[in-house]
Amino acid sequence: MALDTSSYKIPVARTVADLRATIADWRKQGLTVGLVPTMGALHDGHLSLVDLVKTKVNRCVVSIFVNPTQFAPHEDLDAYPRTEAADAEKLNRRGDLIFAPTANEMYPAGYATTINLSGVTGPLEGEARPTHFAGVATVVAKLLLQALPDVAAFGEKDWQQLQVIRRMVADLDIPVKILGGAILREADGLAMSSRNVYLSAEEREAAGQLNIILRETAAEIAAGKMISTATAESTKRIIALGFAHVDYLEVRDAASLAAFDNDKTTGGARILVAAKIGKTRLIDNMPVG
Ligand code: PAJ
Repeated sequence: MALDTSSYKIPVARTVADLRATIADWRKQGLTVGLVPTMGALHDGHLSLVDLVKTKVNRCVVSIFVNPTQFAPHEDLDAYPRTEAADAEKLNRRGDLIFAPTANEMYPAGYATTINLSGVTGPLEGEARPTHFAGVATVVAKLLLQALPDVAAFGEKDWQQLQVIRRMVADLDIPVKILGGAILREADGLAMSSRNVYLSAEEREAAGQLNIILRETAAEIAAGKMISTATAESTKRIIALGFAHVDYLEVRDAASLAAFDNDKTTGGARILVAAKIGKTRLIDNMPVG
């Protein structure tokens, strides 16, 4: 069913042709262009990326597309929040164009191409969600080639995703500058996420402790504690909070996501966590030291 966009104050392109026509018009006026790819259900974390882009370029396209290829069959594709009218309201006076294609526009009949990276996609999210990054890389490559922006912004919230995109853009010579945006957090430190709406009141309270444990673990490791000891103890604390499962709690090289030898960091380290509470899977990360 076609969405009624008559109340939107920001224009919406539904097709690649319309997206390109608007951008071509901007280019003719000598304007520079940025892109913020999202799956919608926008919160202040997404909006901070739009603001970041607008400090660098004249016009910002925000794509809203719940990308089916990055969800495994058992994941929350159907349940994922879809709030386009509210998103359009939030982008008003902030973004310049919404690109909200249909699944058929992005993956028409006969579609056959997938982008697979090795290395950086292997550990952590790659183990927990083996098909996820191929879906992300593929849709982001398509969006970058559709819009051909000068810059595109991604949040540090999805740290591994940001490294995957930086690697892909370098490897495929995609002519765009990738910007990383700081993680926006709720007052208690919980990283903002479209999935936080799934949390019950009790789960929400426990979820707010995750970043505190992460911060303490990072400080312990920076002060010289063995990585394996610190992460094993903190995993127990996360479970004691009421989390059902810790997919990973690991310290990795910030760019390559490679593990450190000898249970000690040698600089440039990031601690990353994914843990499930109730039905909701939360991720977070921060620098070590
Ligand atoms: P989505 O989860 O909607 O996130 C869109 C962008 O917002 C991502 O770059 C993400 O890292 C960033 N973001 C989310 N929460 C944030 C927070 N609390 N602070 C700062 N930035 C935050 O990530 C995706 O969509 C998809 O995988 C996508 C890249 C759009 C490809 O489909």
